[in-house]
Amino acid sequence: MTKTLIAFFSRADENYFGGSMKYVDVGNTEIVVGLMKDLIDADTFKIEMKKPYSASYMTCIDEAKKDLQANARPELVSYPSSIDEYDTVILGYPNYWGTIPMAVATFLEAYDFTGKTILPFCTNEGSGMGSSEKDIKKYAKGAEVKRGLSINGSRAGSSGDPVKKWLSESGCK
Ligand SMILES: Cc1cc2nc3c(=O)[nH]c(=O)nc-3n(C[C@H](O)[C@H](O)[C@H](O)COP(=O)(O)O)c2cc1C
Repeated sequence: MTKTLIAFFSRADENYFGGSMKYVDVGNTEIVVGLMKDLIDADTFKIEMKKPYSASYMTCIDEAKKDLQANARPELVSYPSSIDEYDTVILGYPNYWGTIPMAVATFLEAYDFTGKTILPFCTNEGSGMGSSEKDIKKYAKGAEVKRGLSINGSRAGSSGDPVKKWLSESGCK
């Protein structure tokens, strides 16, 4: 029997939604994870930084850029003790400066993905997957990284149809 883990990074607080700033309680990527939980049987793990980025959008933009430029590995609040029981890891994240948030690299490098499949999905405001799929292959040693799904973050709540289609094409039910 195959077992699936949905591991995701998502930030609430102030964000940019098609032209204006707004404070939100749940981030876009986490909204999509909520839709997935209604469609498939999977465990979830939220990738959280010990020192989270600022609630202010503009400050967060700078902090995340510095971490990318420094190739940082921000410490996480916690880690699953093992991911051995999972065959498939659905990996959700926002596009940060054209790729994954560096905390996702911290998560990926903590495990051996040999024999596991990663299904990446990325919420963004227009840059699509960016270089995230290529970068995930670099950090997740041994993983087979399948075709990803790009979702417009501002419309995360109405992405049910493409999410359902992608999950079924990727072999998840
Ligand atoms: C630090 C930062 C960098 C971002 N960089 C990009 C980008 O390069 N391209 C893009 O399309 N959107 C970019 N965005 C927008 C986010 O990818 C988008 O709002 C995403 O849905 C946020 O997901 P979340 O609410 O789950 O954190 C960026 C947002 C932040 C906070």
